[in-house]
Amino acid sequence: MRDSGPIGVFDSGIGGLTIARKIRELMPCEDILYVADSGHAPYGDRPDRYILDRSFAVTDFLLSRQVKAVVVACNTATTTCISELRAKYPVPFIGVEPGVKPAVLNSKSGVVGILATTKTLVTDSFTELAKRVSDGIRVEVMPCPELVVQIESLKLSFEEAAGLVEKYVHPLLARGVDTIVLGCTHYAHLAPVIARVAGPDVSIISTELAVANEVCRRLESQGLTATNSTTGGEEFWSSGELALFQAQVQHFWGPSSLVRQF
Ligand code: SIN
Repeated sequence: MRDSGPIGVFDSGIGGLTIARKIRELMPCEDILYVADSGHAPYGDRPDRYILDRSFAVTDFLLSRQVKAVVVACNTATTTCISELRAKYPVPFIGVEPGVKPAVLNSKSGVVGILATTKTLVTDSFTELAKRVSDGIRVEVMPCPELVVQIESLKLSFEEAAGLVEKYVHPLLARGVDTIVLGCTHYAHLAPVIARVAGPDVSIISTELAVANEVCRRLESQGLTATNSTTGGEEFWSSGELALFQAQVQHFWGPSSLVRQF
């Protein structure tokens, strides 16, 4: 395997950009190839087979571009099919998982809330994670089927998003949570609104930095870290509508970002 290929990062849409951003901060010399499978988003209400087929299709593309590792920057795809991806392809896969453990360690009220897609919350891997780390703390889950669409349409201001966020966060507050986990990479784009709706006494936990650190560790341990000292570049690909993706990437990454059709 070459240490000169890009790091592949994929998500059903723009959620994984939050992780790509942290990878860029921690590893400035790495090239990043980002794929948003926006033409097939959201994954969160799809059957397992659909998510698996899409994850295979995106990974085939990433490998055709010689990526040296794949970050599955999507909680739904990670919980549904990361073991099948690892079994099929010869590159390291780094997935994401909701930060239940840090939330449990943080909670004083003894109740933590998890915001995630419907699919993530019903997977065995999530259920096992919650059981394994809950340590006497009550875990309250809240499926948020409309949040990904809201975020993909870049309606991110407090005025635009607070109503929908309240619909998901208020019931958790009523159940006594003092810590809320963002269990979908998309939700980090709405973290300021979620934090404002939840109020100052509630901690918000997301895992972008932890995932980027893990990517760094995995590349180092497998001898895959880029050896050049020049600044890495990025490519952004989408299976969805390109004009919208251009606006999304420019919003989160910067005005000169170029996007391409996957
Ligand atoms: C979705 O496509 O429904 C959300 C992706 C995620 O779970 O991170």
